Amino acid sequence: MTNLNWNNLGFSYRKTNTILCSWFKDGQWSPVESRKDDNLTINAFAGSLHYSVECFEGLKAFRGKDGKIRLFRPEENALRIQRSADFLGIPAPDTELFISMCKQIVRENEDFLPPYGSHASMYLRPTLIGFNPQLGVKSSTECLFMMLCSPVGAYTGGALEPCNAVIARDYDRAAPFGSGSYKVGANYAVSLYSYNKAHALGYQAVLYLDPLTHTKIDEFGSSNFFGIKGNSYITPKSDSILPSITNKSLIEVAKSIGMTVERRDVEVSELATFEEVGECGTAVVITPVSFIDDKPSLESDEKTRYTFYSDKECGPKSLKLYNIITGIQYGEIEDTFGWTEFVD
Ligand code: PLP
Ligand code: COI
Repeated sequence: MTNLNWNNLGFSYRKTNTILCSWFKDGQWSPVESRKDDNLTINAFAGSLHYSVECFEGLKAFRGKDGKIRLFRPEENALRIQRSADFLGIPAPDTELFISMCKQIVRENEDFLPPYGSHASMYLRPTLIGFNPQLGVKSSTECLFMMLCSPVGAYTGGALEPCNAVIARDYDRAAPFGSGSYKVGANYAVSLYSYNKAHALGYQAVLYLDPLTHTKIDEFGSSNFFGIKGNSYITPKSDSILPSITNKSLIEVAKSIGMTVERRDVEVSELATFEEVGECGTAVVITPVSFIDDKPSLESDEKTRYTFYSDKECGPKSLKLYNIITGIQYGEIEDTFGWTEFVD
């Protein structure tokens, strides 16, 4: 049994009972191995260690009001890692293997699954890495697919606690026609320098602009962007952002409650017109944004500040969307969308 405080988990690594591993070699995936040790033995020349031959996913398992365990749209994550792997030129687990490993990791670590009512969940981190030794810049031929998990609470602050963000005009997360829409580790490495600088200046998130023209909003470092104006849910359409499963779901939820959905270019100047702004993603769920500073460079004292609903609480439209999506995830609301996968 665990002695974790479920109400104060934050988003960090916690050792659980097991991790799952399957190796791709000679054209097939090995039987899934469950390991108690999180440490790996890996050849020092593996492509993942040199050329970032790595992609990953993030999804959550929830203990429901009815005691049942629910995964949220795991098939979407399976399809996305297959797309990322294809981009890297490496083999990916098929959807069946992916989902069965999601279920197995939850079963083997059920004592780390936060109880209903704690507003916490179990984060699953499917990870695919190039494993064979190599020297040339090539796609790996042998890979390791791992299913990892850790109990988590809010990504920043507390649930629904507003955060702030900065537009770092002198840094990009993704290149035009680059890797921005794939969930590859390299994208996150590229975001660390600007994130660290922004963090040191007191910002919790960095909002990146489209790398080609730097006039339109792309996304935050670890989540998609949405804005609320009147009855409209507005979110950027861009080839350099991650196609967020949370955002895709919120779009459906917004439509189902009669909101207008606009997926289109969002000019930075339009920030002045939003009543509510939020981050959305698996880790952040919906995190309201209280203000965004637009700075010509991170070091600059010059800035334009855009403020939104409140620095204390979540705006009413974002809250409504949050309550529906988390209501489905925790089994409080009937899932009429068919997004739930039960873990028996
Ligand atoms: N954008 C980035 C850069 C992310 O890392 C994430 C997190 O996965 C998201 C958006 C949100 O995607 P999803 O809702 O599928 O978790
Ligand atoms: C997620 O929300 O699942 C993410 O991957 C974001 C971040 C923790 C990398």
